[in-house]
Amino acid sequence: MNTRSNRIQIVSENLSDIKVMALSWKEKNEVVGFIPTMGNLHEGHLSLIRKIRDYGATKTIVSIYVNPKQFGPGEDYAEYPRTPDEDIKLLEKLNVDCVFCPSDEEIYPPNAESQVMIDNLSLMHELCGKYRPGHFDGVLLVVNRLLNIIQPNIAIFGQKDYQQYVLIKNMVQQLFLSTEVLMAPIIRENDGLAMSSRNSYLNSNQRSKALHLYKSLISTSRKIRENKIDYKSILQNEIERLNKIGLSVDYLELRTSNDLSSVKKYKKMNGKYVLLGAIKLGKTRLIDNIIL
Ligand code: PAF
Repeated sequence: MNTRSNRIQIVSENLSDIKVMALSWKEKNEVVGFIPTMGNLHEGHLSLIRKIRDYGATKTIVSIYVNPKQFGPGEDYAEYPRTPDEDIKLLEKLNVDCVFCPSDEEIYPPNAESQVMIDNLSLMHELCGKYRPGHFDGVLLVVNRLLNIIQPNIAIFGQKDYQQYVLIKNMVQQLFLSTEVLMAPIIRENDGLAMSSRNSYLNSNQRSKALHLYKSLISTSRKIRENKIDYKSILQNEIERLNKIGLSVDYLELRTSNDLSSVKKYKKMNGKYVLLGAIKLGKTRLIDNIIL
């Protein structure tokens, strides 16, 4: 066990340490809550810790691992911000019980599976999957590995990565894993921009443009709810408007909130739909969504 801190247990090497610790907690009837992250923690991540406690976790484990398999060629794996010392200080303040910082060798030993064997859902290749081929294969691979090592009672994911949450929930069901998968709401900056480690890539001009994504989700969802014209025309007009003001839109789509399937016709019903958007500003790709 690594002891860089005296208030928090930091397991950085030995997988059996974390396995034994989580198991011994469960034997004592503790509810083990797990928050997987790629580090560079911000208020969005910290809210996940608070939320999982609200859901009943009595012990919390946070993993910090920048997963190479979920980044495509030419994406920001090398630049992704890595701030482990600051992260651990923040986690100490929140009295997290254990931080797990595995190495690539532990997560991907030579004999490890290279793909999670689940029914190939078309959703893997839609929305973000269409623009980031292989991304969700990498996410499912690492999350499956982490859930198998820790075997937490509960794991929590942020709503900002809505598609990731739906795919993980599906994987957990298909593989009969014993973890309950929960989602926590998006945490936003004061002006509404969804918090993200990638916001730090934006220059001031891009930062002010980025806000248009959230504003657009709000105004578009209002128009869809008013239901005067077909929702697809509303989305098409909005994509054209956003592209004109300099946001390069990957997608702006209305899907059902339970499984992200396509929507033929919008029928007013609270919580039934989610409006999801992804844009690029220079090299930075941002996503956001709202449930309506
Ligand atoms: O959402 C993230 O930060 C990552 O995709 C996750 C779930 C930690 C897997 O690497």
